[in-house]
Amino acid sequence: MRFVPLIICLAAISLAAPTQFLNDAYDWTDELAEFYGKVSQYINTARHSIRVPGACEASKIALPSHASGMTGPSGLKPRYVALGRGTQNYTCADSTSTSTPVAVGAVARLYNATCIAANYPDLLAKLPDLAYRIPLPTNEYASFPPANLVLMGHHFFTDAIPEFNLNTTPKKHNGIVMTKKGGAIDAPPGAVSGQYGAVPWLYLTSTDGTVGNYKSVYRVNTAAGSPPKTCEGMPPAFQIQYAANYYFFGE
Ligand SMILES: *[C@@H]1O[C@H](CO)[C@@H](O)[C@H](O)[C@H]1NC(C)=O
Ligand SMILES: *[C@@H]1O[C@H](CO)[C@@H](O)[C@H](O)[C@H]1NC(C)=O
Repeated sequence: MRFVPLIICLAAISLAAPTQFLNDAYDWTDELAEFYGKVSQYINTARHSIRVPGACEASKIALPSHASGMTGPSGLKPRYVALGRGTQNYTCADSTSTSTPVAVGAVARLYNATCIAANYPDLLAKLPDLAYRIPLPTNEYASFPPANLVLMGHHFFTDAIPEFNLNTTPKKHNGIVMTKKGGAIDAPPGAVSGQYGAVPWLYLTSTDGTVGNYKSVYRVNTAAGSPPKTCEGMPPAFQIQYAANYYFFGE
């Protein structure tokens, strides 16, 4: 029953550094399953209690404070927040310790976490920690546990350009954000690291080909995704599981 204090913290919206707990938690599968269930239940309850006009108001959304280490323009308006879950892709020239893995892109599904971002920022910040160990649903359009978040789009690379495609179904066309890197900062100490560490936080600016009111995208609250330090014993191409929160800003 070690998850109980965490749930109390969640309810009080004052999540007290459960990172170590989460790292340890991966060994306790039964308890972990129960934990996910509790989180899901909590979020659903929260959803019902915030079903009032303006409750998911994006203007209430703020980046986590660690993101202030990356410069970006002021005056932009938060539009959406997505939980991203997928892989970071790497290649290795050979499998020796003298070669270094090269990042060649990422593939991730984006799940709409805007309501959670507007109301429960502390909970939102911890979602990637839970999410990165949960396999994606086989049905591409299914919602994602533990929080039953709805699919909002896809993140992938087109000709080495990071793209966020927010057109999912014929009824949900929310645009496309083509980006380039504007800044980066190491994930803060205590980030859930997986085997090789958490990928850096990123600031991306929109470029040609963007459809819709999008000016920037921030990748924050990263969990895992980094490659090993060297290519020793690695295949020519490999993927590392990761999760992160993506914040979309417009004018
Ligand atoms: C990344 O790896 C996935 C899975 O193998 C693949 O489908 C995708 O095309 C790769 N993307 C890039 C940019 O390498
Ligand atoms: C995300 O969810 C919010 C709140 O339910 C909704 O207003 C918004 O349209 C959704 N965004 C996308 C891109 O689906």
